[in-house]
Amino acid sequence: MKDPGEFGVEAPKKQDLTYDSYLKVQELLETQKPLSKPQVHDEMLFIIIHQVYELWFKQILHEIGALEKAIEADEVIFSIKILKRILRIQDVLNQQIQVLETMTPNDFNYFRSLLNPASGFQSYQFRILEFRLGIRNAAYTRFYEKQPQAKKQLEDILQQSTFYDTCLHFLARQGLEIPTEHFHRDLSRSHNPSEKIASEMAKVYQNPKKHVQLYEFLELLLDMDQKMGIWRFRHVQMVERIIGITMGTGGSRGVDYLNSTLGKRAFPEIWLSRKYIIDALGEKPGEL
Ligand code: HEM
Repeated sequence: MKDPGEFGVEAPKKQDLTYDSYLKVQELLETQKPLSKPQVHDEMLFIIIHQVYELWFKQILHEIGALEKAIEADEVIFSIKILKRILRIQDVLNQQIQVLETMTPNDFNYFRSLLNPASGFQSYQFRILEFRLGIRNAAYTRFYEKQPQAKKQLEDILQQSTFYDTCLHFLARQGLEIPTEHFHRDLSRSHNPSEKIASEMAKVYQNPKKHVQLYEFLELLLDMDQKMGIWRFRHVQMVERIIGITMGTGGSRGVDYLNSTLGKRAFPEIWLSRKYIIDALGEKPGEL
């Protein structure tokens, strides 16, 4: 095994290292501070589940950074490996909503007013994720007035190209005709889906054997987008179960607002490509 010193890392004094000192478990377990007095039982669950989400968001953003580098270096197989990990994390995120669904409207109501005006709108890691992938709307930055660093980070991202742009550059290097106009647009908004890009992607699907790696790559991106959609849907259903059609603590129309986000797509042309694949097949009346 290599000496850690070879990587410029100082070797830890092994005898001092413990599970707790390495993972900072003590510090971690001190960060759950329920506001209710006397403490309402379910507030602990509410805090922990949000913290767990934020940790996974951090890991996903970490993976997206590595993924972007791999794609820029045309390392498609390695990109696929990273994408698969992200998808598994998303499965965990989607699964754990059900833990929160064990909280009844009554249980939540005991401490809900104490949270006001804090809201999921202020989860800057969630918004960074959306913005980095390509789902952009500068209006959301107003929710971060009390978190100036987060606001600045989000504003900076809105001036940079998206993760999806990195993917499209890669596809262009692989021979797909991606119109260059796409890269010269207002980066602070989600882009308008391009028919040309969708029809180019359709070519990959029309001959998956020839383009097997690109096919796999596009399908995994689609999975990522779909799993984000599943999270939105699971979240809004859980919200409706717990607070019905009442307003959100962030001031939105709650379930109505959340339902309006269900159509968001990070990689719209991969979805749109289906139209071209089907159109190219022409009318083939099925036998009943
Ligand atoms: C009892 C549990 C929950 C309720 C009642 C709830 C309710 C809401 C509501 C009403 C909104 C709309 C914004 C507003 O007006 O506040 C919202 C947004 C949001 N919530 Fe939750 N939420 C809950 C749990 C969670 C959990 C566990 C997460 C995990 C991170 C989460 C993440 C978010 C995010 C990221 C948004 C912004 C979504 C967007 O703008 O597309 N929420 N939530």
